[in-house]
Amino acid sequence: MSTGASFWDRKYGRRGFVYGTEPSRFLVEQASGRLEAGEEVLTLGEGEGRNAVWLAGQGYAVTAVDYSRPALEKCHRLARSKGVEVRSYLSDVMDFELEDARWDAVVLLHMHLPPGKRRMLHRRIVNALRPGGHLFLEALRCDQFGRRSGGPERRELFYSAKTLRRDFQELVICRMVEEDRFIESGEHRGWTSVINLIARK
Ligand SMILES: C[S@@+](CC[C@H](N)C(=O)[O-])C[C@H]1O[C@@H](n2cnc3c(N)ncnc32)[C@H](O)[C@@H]1O
Repeated sequence: MSTGASFWDRKYGRRGFVYGTEPSRFLVEQASGRLEAGEEVLTLGEGEGRNAVWLAGQGYAVTAVDYSRPALEKCHRLARSKGVEVRSYLSDVMDFELEDARWDAVVLLHMHLPPGKRRMLHRRIVNALRPGGHLFLEALRCDQFGRRSGGPERRELFYSAKTLRRDFQELVICRMVEEDRFIESGEHRGWTSVINLIARK
């Protein structure tokens, strides 16, 4: 999988929603009990809005960041169709000012940055969470490498429990699960090896 905004612009430039309009099952199962209505949630690498729009529908104040313009246009279209509001920023996540102790929750789903940038972003997320704030993270893990159900072409782009524990050692790990899930989201369908993490500051 090549990376860069132009790659994603081409992918999202097609009709329809590449990852569908249904929210991540992990998020739906895990977010509700942990967040209060009105809390400020930041979603990074949001894509076409399936998760931001669902979160907004649950009553959270949602800000979405992605560097693909067609993705955020679809996100706003989806939000309008559901009668909710999502604030968005067209930006590389590495350039977006996260601010210290700003967010009640940060959502990082299936964004596969190279290790150096990923570590830097994780560090900034730790700082950006308010005390008591939650991180919701799901990504493909190393076992997914080479499987036909999707994912990056380079092994280093996959996640592992070891690096997540290291990167988020200042947070309390509430849940860290490695599992094979049958994922059906938009064009993506198949058994997929994921790791998901919920951590609290
Ligand atoms: C695999 S998609 C996942 C989209 C969404 N999180 C979901 O679960 O449906 C990865 C997303 O991350 C975005 N992305 C990747 N690298 C980024 C970066 N450095 N800055 C901003 N967005 C980025 C892409 O544009 C794309 O929308």
